[in-house]
Amino acid sequence: MHYLLRHRDVPGIQALVTYVGHGGYEGLRRAVSMSQDAVLEEVAQSGLRGRGGAGFPTGRKWSFLNQSSSERYLVVNADEAEPGTFKDRELIENNPHQVIEGALIAAYALRATDAFIFVRGELLTGYESLLRARNEARDAGYIGSHIFHSDYSIHLSVFRSAGAYICGEETALLESLEGRRGHPRIKPPFPAQVGLYGQPTVVNNAETVANLPPIIMNGANWYRNFGTDKSPGIKIFSVSGLIARPGNYELPLGTPLDTLLHDYAGGPRYGRSIKAVIPGGSSVPLLVPENFNVPLDYESLLEAGSMLGSGGVMILDDATCIVRTAARLLKFYRTESCGKCTPCREGTYWMTAILERIEAGVGTMDDLGRLPDIADHVSGKCLCPLGDASLPFMLSAMTHFRHEFVQHIEEHGCPMSAAVTHTA
Ligand SMILES: Cc1cc2nc3c(=O)[nH]c(=O)nc-3n(C[C@H](O)[C@H](O)[C@H](O)COP(=O)(O)O)c2cc1C
Ligand code: SF4
Repeated sequence: MHYLLRHRDVPGIQALVTYVGHGGYEGLRRAVSMSQDAVLEEVAQSGLRGRGGAGFPTGRKWSFLNQSSSERYLVVNADEAEPGTFKDRELIENNPHQVIEGALIAAYALRATDAFIFVRGELLTGYESLLRARNEARDAGYIGSHIFHSDYSIHLSVFRSAGAYICGEETALLESLEGRRGHPRIKPPFPAQVGLYGQPTVVNNAETVANLPPIIMNGANWYRNFGTDKSPGIKIFSVSGLIARPGNYELPLGTPLDTLLHDYAGGPRYGRSIKAVIPGGSSVPLLVPENFNVPLDYESLLEAGSMLGSGGVMILDDATCIVRTAARLLKFYRTESCGKCTPCREGTYWMTAILERIEAGVGTMDDLGRLPDIADHVSGKCLCPLGDASLPFMLSAMTHFRHEFVQHIEEHGCPMSAAVTHTA
């Protein structure tokens, strides 16, 4: 049974009539019959944590919103561009009303005057699906004035971004939404004080808000039946890479990584073995096989030396070149760096260049010292987290697979390229 990916159990749930026929918008009805503070308290009690990457408790985040201003905004982040992550895409394409209902519940709890859903530019199908659903919901009176005959009124706009990874960072997102170039803002002030158009704003991930209808319908205690004490609830894991059944899996937090890899995703392909897993999108350290029994929750992954991040689980099998993977990922950060601050702009450029020359077989042993040295000049010295996000995979790869870097240098080329052919 799915609570988020409900379209897998209920075909046609993209249409309002089907969504409503299966309990849709009952969470919103219940929410507006409660006080705003009671909704906030229910969400805080559920222990829901943000699914955008950082895992910040949602109820606590909402409590920071400055209520003294006459305007307050909710922005739902569906920019989803983290490599290996495609959960929000499935949600907005196939279960758009649940994202909208969740946004309306959040907006109500926050006493927001306007709500926005910010969609990654490339996700055209998801954007169109959300737009259709928003229009249906508006025509049916779930969006607009006096929802369910209450005092509550709200507008909801769906915005298609121009398409840049950095626009997923909440302050760059707000700049982009205002029509400017997607450059991060300096914090403080935080969006909860000065956000969209200078007004207090909460930015929440699309999966985060999709959790709200079932939480409000079934209660915080029900939600806490899933997951662990500190990481309650359910989460969508996007599984990609060299694995038999890639795709999205909705599971309780705390499910062991091994169970996800083998019982759900079918294990490695071609009789190969898995040599490393990136468990939380491209911005987190890799895990090696001795940690594959780690429970997939925020705390356990930290203890194991990585992070849950966005829940993008990428599988690297024994045919994968770690150096090539590191070069490819660094190139992503180099390309997506907005260039506003020097450590990120220059650091990602030089680390990519060095990794590419090691992979090409023209690196030197000195390069192995240069990479952590440059990383040190990036770490903690950037305006936004993108610069830091470029480092964990590379540094963990150099710790666990140093021999592969050395082999590339000593053998003047990639030892994997000659050895590997995949046969179906
Ligand atoms: C470079 C960068 C890209 C990001 N991309 C996304 C994204 O695509 N979707 C998202 O929800 N959060 C993304 N974030 C995190 C957001 O800044 C923000 O923390 C999040 O939307 C908050 O939602 P949550 O509290 O529900 O997790 C990104 C952060 C950084 C630094
Ligand atoms: S860290 Fe990178 S992406 Fe972030 S502001 Fe600086 S240059 Fe731009």
